[in-house]
Amino acid sequence: MATPHIEAEKGDFARTVLMPGDSLRAKFIAENYLGDARQVNGVRGMLGYTGLYKGEKVSVMASGMGVPSIGIYSYELFRFYDVENIVRIGTAGAVDERLSVGDVVIAMSAATNSNYAAQYRLPGTPAPTADFSLLMTAYQAAELLGKRVYVGSVLTSDTFYDDADSLREWQKIGILAIEMECAALYLNAARLGKKALTICTISDCPFTGESASSETRQTAFRDMMQIGLDMAAGV
Ligand code: HPA
Repeated sequence: MATPHIEAEKGDFARTVLMPGDSLRAKFIAENYLGDARQVNGVRGMLGYTGLYKGEKVSVMASGMGVPSIGIYSYELFRFYDVENIVRIGTAGAVDERLSVGDVVIAMSAATNSNYAAQYRLPGTPAPTADFSLLMTAYQAAELLGKRVYVGSVLTSDTFYDDADSLREWQKIGILAIEMECAALYLNAARLGKKALTICTISDCPFTGESASSETRQTAFRDMMQIGLDMAAGV
């Protein structure tokens, strides 16, 4: 029972899938954190694995970059593989000036400049929102690890290299960070009656030009993976 983009059989994925953007990060998580991990997808190099974490079956699969890519993979996982929870674990740029490289943001909601929701023909503007139970579980997992997290709104943008200084405008309405996938994930989950959450590590600061050193990246990403895995084992 393959889909156009996933070759796994039904039952190959756990109820909960962690989704980094990058295939190599999915592989890293599977090899370093999951027991008995086996690869369940390799189509287009979008690697997916299922294994055990603290005795619970957990999957990790890459989403690729941007709304169209996570739109496809999260839809197929929810709709055709009976996945109930998708937790994006990605990177983001700091918009709120309190944030710096290595900080962790949990996206309660996602503003967006993407047109993804146009497909639903709504007579208004939807509000892409995290599932509260996943958010609370992630927050508690972070507290147990002693890792401070920021919870609020992110901006899901279709552009990484922006032509105009629009980020300042988003900053004025309290956006914490900018990334490129969250709104599509939340809208798919809402439309399909499933649950989703996005946890991001700040990897760069567009206003200051600060960017993560490889060491900060590793440690900070490890914090986020740990939060994602602990919550995945608990939901
Ligand atoms: N913009 C958009 N997406 C990102 C960024 C950014 O600055 N950093 C990491 N993902």
